[in-house]
Amino acid sequence: MTPGTADLTVRTLGECRIDSPLVALPADGPTTEHYVREDDRVLFDDTLQMVAARGLDSRELPGFEPTGPRRKIFFQPSKTRVGIVTCGGLCPGLNDVIRGLVRELNDHYGVKKIYGFRNGYQGFISKYGREVVELTPQSVSGINEYGGTILGTSRGEQDADEIVDCLEHMSINVLFVIGGDGSMRGALRIADTVQERNLKIAVVGVPKTIDNDIPYIDQSFGFQTAFAKATESIRGASVEARAVPNGVGLVHVMGRHSGFIACYAALANNDADYVLIPEVPFELDGENGFLAHLRRRVERRGRAVVVAAEGAGQEFLADATHPGHDASGNRRLRDIGQFLRHRIADHFAEHGLEMNMKYIDPSYAIRSVPANPYDSVHCIRLAHAAVHAAMAGRTAMVVGRWRGRFVHVPISLAISKRNQVDPHGDLWMSVLEATGQPRTFG
Ligand code: F6P
Repeated sequence: MTPGTADLTVRTLGECRIDSPLVALPADGPTTEHYVREDDRVLFDDTLQMVAARGLDSRELPGFEPTGPRRKIFFQPSKTRVGIVTCGGLCPGLNDVIRGLVRELNDHYGVKKIYGFRNGYQGFISKYGREVVELTPQSVSGINEYGGTILGTSRGEQDADEIVDCLEHMSINVLFVIGGDGSMRGALRIADTVQERNLKIAVVGVPKTIDNDIPYIDQSFGFQTAFAKATESIRGASVEARAVPNGVGLVHVMGRHSGFIACYAALANNDADYVLIPEVPFELDGENGFLAHLRRRVERRGRAVVVAAEGAGQEFLADATHPGHDASGNRRLRDIGQFLRHRIADHFAEHGLEMNMKYIDPSYAIRSVPANPYDSVHCIRLAHAAVHAAMAGRTAMVVGRWRGRFVHVPISLAISKRNQVDPHGDLWMSVLEATGQPRTFG
């Protein structure tokens, strides 16, 4: 489906009648860094072919609403009460986003009542008994220096009605949800429940995923930090593999459905000879299978480095005793790293060839670290954008970057599919060029 104008339209709570405290920032002119004309749009299409395929004239081109402060806002800042929640797996930059939201709300809009809900959506549900914490510029000072989230997190959905009950009881006007695709589905259910009850509560998401698997967003915050951390393991595996006869360095990295971490980490130091990702199925056995290819490479060059994303090759591990799904509804994966480790060892043994395997799995170490400076910048800009959107009454949307511009993306679009490495795209082409591995095994 190619999104049209209706798919890109962000819901609003109503007309904005209140002068924004940031009115001094916006210039009078057209859209600038500091001011966005309400009728301006960031074009969805960015090639002539895409435009031509729609058969439209330029006025009909679908575009995203740009982020930024509006002259008129929806909420009266002094009376606005805000909630913030972090959900799902950890991601570098969560604390940067929390801090950015609190500072922008407090410093520029004068919003003083900001509450943090603890441990994801559990924080709204009475049976868990999670305390609500007050967030102030003082309490969030310096939190960006640390990994994790000061609010804690949890996986799994909770009843949207009970969440909205809690928001109503606390007179919350704006809820910021920092989470992945499952959490954004939850955020949409909350926004829909708010609408059904005819309430005026804005629900704005800041998408979080080290897997970079949210669509219509160039790159999610934390992804760069995570893959940069993963490169250290690839470098380690490469050094180890070079030091021994017939060395094989095998690195297993996160990436449930999308292999972006594996691809970017492998490209970053260009030491990998093979990258295996969920999007590109491969054969293990046979003369053209992965194992034979690897063996020949090691025979020829004396070493090889393999990077495997955790979602790769799951078809080899499927059996009747599948471990089911986690609380977020994600299918639990079998360990492809350990599987390959043993299959590679067996394969070399069967061919009577010496092989010295060094296996590295950085696991949670790549996502529990603080954000690097690039991601910190990304986080604060997303936080600012989220605050401007919510104060202007936007709801059921996430903030993101599309073709280099910060934009409002309706949640429905952000959860409509998964961002994955395109096996026919330029990223995978770069991986094939850098590794020298064949397009397919088998
Ligand atoms: O969703 C991001 C992710 O990093 C996946 O790549 C990985 O499978 C998952 O988190 C593991 O997280 P947890 O063990 O917390 O469920």
